[in-house]
Amino acid sequence: MTGAVVEARGLVKRFGGQAAVDGVDLSVPAGGCLGLLGPNGAGKTTTLRLILGMARPDAGSLRVLGEPVPERAERARARMGVVPQGDTLDPDFTVEENLRVYARYFGLHGPAVERRIRALLDFAELAGRAQARVQSLSGGMRRRLAVARALVNDPELVVLDEPTTGLDPQVRHHLWARLRALVAEGRTLLLTTHYMEEAERLCDRVVIMDRGRVLEQGPPAELVARHVEPEVVEIRAARGESVPALPGTGACRIETVGDVRYCYTHDARPLLAALEGRGDLTFLHRPANLEDVFLRLTGRELRE
Ligand SMILES: Nc1ncnc2c1ncn2[C@@H]1O[C@H](COP(=O)(O)OP(=O)(O)O)[C@@H](O)[C@H]1O
Ligand SMILES: [Mg+2]
Repeated sequence: MTGAVVEARGLVKRFGGQAAVDGVDLSVPAGGCLGLLGPNGAGKTTTLRLILGMARPDAGSLRVLGEPVPERAERARARMGVVPQGDTLDPDFTVEENLRVYARYFGLHGPAVERRIRALLDFAELAGRAQARVQSLSGGMRRRLAVARALVNDPELVVLDEPTTGLDPQVRHHLWARLRALVAEGRTLLLTTHYMEEAERLCDRVVIMDRGRVLEQGPPAELVARHVEPEVVEIRAARGESVPALPGTGACRIETVGDVRYCYTHDARPLLAALEGRGDLTFLHRPANLEDVFLRLTGRELRE
């Protein structure tokens, strides 16, 4: 399949007077992984709900897998998998029953589904826990089961809302590998995240949203090249003092957050020379990344 699996134009969704999604244009190419990034309240979940046909747009047009949504959302949904934000597994059922019950929603049953359930349990590395109750599973196992459940109908497009939020690093890396395997199988992934390293590792394209609008989109490396200097030096003073003025920062774009000074530059060498032998300062020299882009575009003030 070629072309876009999701095509949104001028999408608007209001709650009361407030627009949660405020004129979003979005195109998700077939194959690969597209990451929808944004701070809390940016409108990511609402955008996914519109794509899933779970909410009606107030304006705009939307096609998903070639079907107009919400008009023919059910036909689109039959070819999509969903991993919702948070845990929506049935705690009273076993691992296997969760998959079987979900398959039934799609009208799927019989030997082919039983084979598929076996394969999904293997994929999720839960074969040994097939008869375990969901409430006895760890957070990582639950999330793997939620991903397996989303695959029950062999979907072309898998939509995941913050799939790794709250998971520890081992579990996250493990889940990333599973998600990359889905892309390798030719499925399209659309996921939301506020972990920038997740987006950098998984997504070929990212869309940065804030306050219901798309601020920027493209491959992560392109966005880094477009919006921030390639090198960053983060400087911190000892004992919570503020960082003094330093020679070599002349060629830097400086941002100060609390007790940290971020120096963005095309050439960190003069600053690194000035930092040499400064026992009163600690510093980190690193390449710029998507998080720097994200903070530059969405600002550094706190969002509650
Ligand atoms: N069902 C709803 N009723 C009222 N307001 C909502 C509803 N869903 C979302 N919102 C509001 O819309 C905005 C975007 O929310 P959401 O799409 O959940 O953002 P994100 O997933 O990026 O954190 C927020 O201000 C949120 O409070
Ligand atoms: Mg959300």
